[in-house]
Amino acid sequence: MMIRPSRLRHTSHIRDLSKENNLSLNDLVYPLFVVEGKNVKNTIESMPNIYQFSIDKLLFEIDELTKLNIKNILLFGIPNTKDELGSNSFDENGIIQKTIIEIKKRFDNLFIMTDVCFCEYTSHGHCGILKNNLIDNDLTLKYLQKQALSHVEAGSDLIAPSGMIDGMVKAIRSILDQNNLINIPIMSYSAKYASSFYGPFRDAVESAPQFGDRKMYQMDPANSNEAVKEVFIDIQEGADIVMVKPALSYLDIIFKIKDKINIPLACYNVSGEYSMVKAAANNGWINEDLVRDELLLSLKRAGADIIISYFTKDYAKKINKYD
Ligand code: PBG
Repeated sequence: MMIRPSRLRHTSHIRDLSKENNLSLNDLVYPLFVVEGKNVKNTIESMPNIYQFSIDKLLFEIDELTKLNIKNILLFGIPNTKDELGSNSFDENGIIQKTIIEIKKRFDNLFIMTDVCFCEYTSHGHCGILKNNLIDNDLTLKYLQKQALSHVEAGSDLIAPSGMIDGMVKAIRSILDQNNLINIPIMSYSAKYASSFYGPFRDAVESAPQFGDRKMYQMDPANSNEAVKEVFIDIQEGADIVMVKPALSYLDIIFKIKDKINIPLACYNVSGEYSMVKAAANNGWINEDLVRDELLLSLKRAGADIIISYFTKDYAKKINKYD
C-alpha cells in the first residue's frame, strides 16, 4: 500500500474539510486613528489606505466597517495639544473620550477597544511620565489608572495598555474593580518589542520620541524567554488576554507562548508589516490579496487567537465580495 497524504488535497472540498486554521472577522481587530477637527480625512504617507479621521468622518468610516461585518476596532487618539503629563489622555473631553461617546451613541454592535498609553499625548513622546528625562514607572501607574478609568467611563469595551510599564495590568485591574467595572477585560501588550516596524505608526500618531528611544521599557528583539516572563506576570496581575507585538517577525514567540498559556493570545500585525506588503503590491511585485491572506493565516497557525491588523478592512471587503 502506498501512503498518499495528497488524497486530502485532491479537491477543494476535501481541502476545506481538513483545513487546520481559518481566518474569521470574529478574530480580527481594525485599528483607527482619530484627530480633532471637522471634515478631516488625512492620508498617512507611509500607510496606504489608512487615515487620520476627525470624529464626524470617523462615524462614516465606522458605518462602512459595520456593513462589512467588522466587529472589533482599536482606537488611537491624537490630541491637538500635547504636554508633559499627556493630560488630554485622561480628560473627559479628550479626543478619545469624545470619540467613544459618539460611536456608542450610534453603533451598538461594535466592540470598542482602546489603546492606553501616553506616547500619543505627551510632548516628549515617551510612554509614561518623566522624571529627569527617564520614565517614572510607579508614578506613571497612577496616570494610567486615570486614563483607563476615563476610557471606560466614556464607554470603552476593553482596555489595552501598551506602554510596557511594570505593574500596569495590576494597577488598571484594581482601579476598574474599585469602580465596579468588573466586566471590562484587559488585553495587555505583554510582550512588546522595541521594534523598528513601528515606524509608519509613529507618523500616523505623531508619537516619535523627541529624544532617546524606547529600549528602556520595550523588549530586546534578541530575547524570547523574557517574553514568557512578561506574559506570566501579566496573567498573574489579571490580564484577560495577552499580546505579542510585532507579529510576523515574532511567530516563534507567538508559538512558544501559545504552548504555555490557557487564555486567549493576541498579536499585533504592526504598521511596518502592513506597509511593506502595500509597497510591494503597489509595485506589482506580489499579489496583494493572496500574500495578505497567507500572512494573516500564518499568525493563526503560529497560535494567535486574535489578530490586530490594518489589513482587516481589505480582508473584510474581499470576503464580503464572495459571500
Ligand atoms: C503605543 C503603541 C505603538 C503601537 C501601538 N501602540 C507604538 C510604539 O510603541 O511606538 C504600534 C503600532 C504599529 O506600529 O502599528 N501607544
